[in-house]
This record gives sequence, structure tokens and C-alpha cells, in this order.
Amino acid sequence: MSPEKKPDNLINAEGLRVDGRRIDELRPIEMKVGVLKQADGSASIRQGKTYIIAAVYGPRELHPRHLTLNDRAYLRVVYRMTTFSVPDRKRPAPSRREKEISMVIANALSPVIFLEEFPKAVIDVFVTVIQADGGTRCAAINAASLALADAGIPMKSLVPSVAVGKAEGQLIVDLGDEEDKYGQGDIPMAILPHTEEIVLLQQDGSFTREEIIEALQMGINSCKYLHEVQKDALKAAYVGATSDEDEENDDEDDDYLDDL
Ligand code: CDP
Repeated sequence: MSPEKKPDNLINAEGLRVDGRRIDELRPIEMKVGVLKQADGSASIRQGKTYIIAAVYGPRELHPRHLTLNDRAYLRVVYRMTTFSVPDRKRPAPSRREKEISMVIANALSPVIFLEEFPKAVIDVFVTVIQADGGTRCAAINAASLALADAGIPMKSLVPSVAVGKAEGQLIVDLGDEEDKYGQGDIPMAILPHTEEIVLLQQDGSFTREEIIEALQMGINSCKYLHEVQKDALKAAYVGATSDEDEENDDEDDDYLDDL
């Protein structure tokens, strides 16, 4: 692969970004549910060139036992990048960044899961980044919440997530890797779509108060769109493949998925 060069401008005179997107435009997104046979629940996401698979196991017996929580399940998230997911080979040992992102994903997902229904158990979420091109923590949350739903884990809601950043003094949604590297900062966020409650909010770079308020609104709008894509992925897996006899149940399934 040829070494990447810093682009002269991240936004051109026509207001378009390096990959031709408008400032408020998401990358092409494809989410799929039930992509792994062994896992209790699974999902994949392609967001531009970022490609991630999430697998969920459990609720199941927790080892090592000293991690046991008597009043609820332990949500154990492991985010890892494959060695070939980035231009420079990623060392296989877990990095500080991977540990931090694992924690951030767990913090974003735990408010929606009825963990108290499974005291002493563990719910394992494995997130593997096959290809990283910016926005992996947000794409991971999108996929992991779908994999949890696919595993039948009781949840209040799916959790859509996106980053809003800044380049050439303008706010942009869903940063690609170049925008992440050479831009002026980013604000990854995740929300509960029905209440707009924020479950992830980080900030890298400096933003004015007005910019943060506008970035939050752009992020919420994008998350609402992502939530529809998540629901469509669940519907494609569960509602699409039904026989004539099941058709009556389809409406009920639709209602349930809309609640998520
Ligand atoms: O992926 P995300 O934006 O959530 O996290 P980040 O720490 O801000 O990393 C931004 C991007 O840098 C990643 O998505 C990768 O494309 C890239 N990266 C890399 O090239 N090599 C690494 N060891 C880590 C990240």
C-alpha cells in the first residue's frame, strides 16, 4: 500500500469532503445480523471502509469467579483490531487504546441491557475490527448492540453511534481515517434514540460551546438514521424469512422491532 499523504484540503471549494461527501453525509453503511454460526448473537457493519464483526455469548457462567456481581450480569466487552486492520501492522498484544475502547463500548451499552435479570452471569461481547478506516468505536457500538439483540438479550433499545468532527473550521459527520488524522478534532457519541439520552460522549480537539451544541444535534440526527438501518438489519434477519402462516405475526414483530 502506498503511504498516505496529507490532503491539501479536507473540504474543497464546493463544500465536498475528500471522499466526495457533504459535511452532514454518512459513509455508505451496511449492517447484517446473524453472521456467525457459533455465537449466540452476531452482527457485522461496513461503514465506508471500516469493517467490524461483533459476537455475543451468554448470559453464561462467569469465569474467573472473582469478577461475579451478585445483583446483575457482568457485561464484558473485548474490542480488538486484527493485525492486518491498519496500514502499519498492529501488534497483537492488547493496547491501551483497545482497553479504553472496550470500556467505552461497555459503558455505552450497559444502560440499555436489563443486566439485573441475570445476576452472577456474564454477557460476553467480542468486537473484532477487520479493517479500520476511522470511527471504529462508534461502528463497534452499532454492531454490538445489534448482536446483543440477535442473542435475545433483553434490552430497552438499540444504541446507534456516530462521531461528529471538525475540518477546515466546519463540522462534519462520520469521519473517515484521513479526517480523523488530519482534522481539527472529533466527538464520538452514542444515544438512546427514543429519549435522546447520551450514553457516549468523548471529545478530541477543541470546539466552541456553539460548535458542541450544533455537533450534538448533527450527531443525534445521524444516530436516528443509523437506528433505522439497525432496525432494517434486524427485520431482514427475522421478519423477511417467514412463511405465509407466519405473516400474521409479522405485524407484531414489526411493532416489537420498532420499540427497540
Ligand atoms: O476508530 P476510532 O475513531 O473510534 O478511534 P481512534 O483511536 O480515534 O482511531 C482513529 C483511526 O485511526 C482508526 O479508526 C484507524 O483507522 C486508525 N488507527 C490506525 O491506523 N492504527 C492504530 N493502531 C489505531 C488506529
